[in-house]
Amino acid sequence: MKHFLAIKGLDYLAARRMLERANSFKKTRGTRVKTILQGQTWVLIFSKPSTRTRVSFEIAIRELGGNVLFLNANDIQLGRGEPIQDTASVIGRMAHGAVIRTFDQQDVVDFSKFSDIPTINALTDEEHPCQILADIMTYEEKRGSIEGKRVAYIGDASCNVPISWAHAAQIFGFDLVCAAPAGYSCPVKNKRTTNVQSPIEAATGADLLYTDVWISMGKEEETAQRLKDLAAYQINHALVQVAKPGAMVLHCLPAYRDKEISAKIFEERAQDIFDEAENRLHIQKGIIEYLIT
Ligand code: CP
Ligand code: NVA
Repeated sequence: MKHFLAIKGLDYLAARRMLERANSFKKTRGTRVKTILQGQTWVLIFSKPSTRTRVSFEIAIRELGGNVLFLNANDIQLGRGEPIQDTASVIGRMAHGAVIRTFDQQDVVDFSKFSDIPTINALTDEEHPCQILADIMTYEEKRGSIEGKRVAYIGDASCNVPISWAHAAQIFGFDLVCAAPAGYSCPVKNKRTTNVQSPIEAATGADLLYTDVWISMGKEEETAQRLKDLAAYQINHALVQVAKPGAMVLHCLPAYRDKEISAKIFEERAQDIFDEAENRLHIQKGIIEYLIT
């Protein structure tokens, strides 16, 4: 049984296959009927809000010929304390696959074990693996291989998205330089990931500038402190100027203009950023197909 729970430990060739298939799904969308999920029902269980991940998975599953059931974790007994193992054991007897957005990474690991159906991590506090594959797909379709490139992550480098980026750096062979203030550095230790405090230092010579929200889901009570701590960690004109000529700017979204990215740079780079959002749909198909074949 295959699962997609993290970028950490992901097999390089498996990742490459998902990316290749995503590109093919993108090219052939709408031209022929896909039936790989015919007769299957996949369940989405989300404990946090979502626009892109939810919509892309719901549409991907339908376009692959399957049915989909969206469950807000608060509307099922899980939200009242039913253990994840029991929830997984029940859903595993009815559904054919699961896509889970939650807090604790261990919960998606446990779900995959107890359900015994293909399980996908749709974001935890520790990783956002589907996002990072869509990001790499976007970079490579516009600029070629990401191998050997320099990616600068600016902002809260301690959250799920930069953690997944750091694992991807090791697997895909690029360098990730995170600029974050004390207390927000990237916790992943590998040869490809470095932490610096200066955004200009991180951005200098970068092929890709990347950011994510300053206040991740679940951290809302820290809002005032985070706005203060992270104020200098914004992708703006000054950073774009020191990056490589032709450097790309991406943002996983949702974006807060004039917080983690200036409104001006966001508007200038909106085409790439929304292409990145669209690629969520195509890569979800690549991931699902990889898991079931
Ligand atoms: N980037 C991303 O995962 O967006 P959503 O929270 O809207 O799914
Ligand atoms: N780090 C963000 C990602 C949102 C897609 C969060 O966890 O809220």
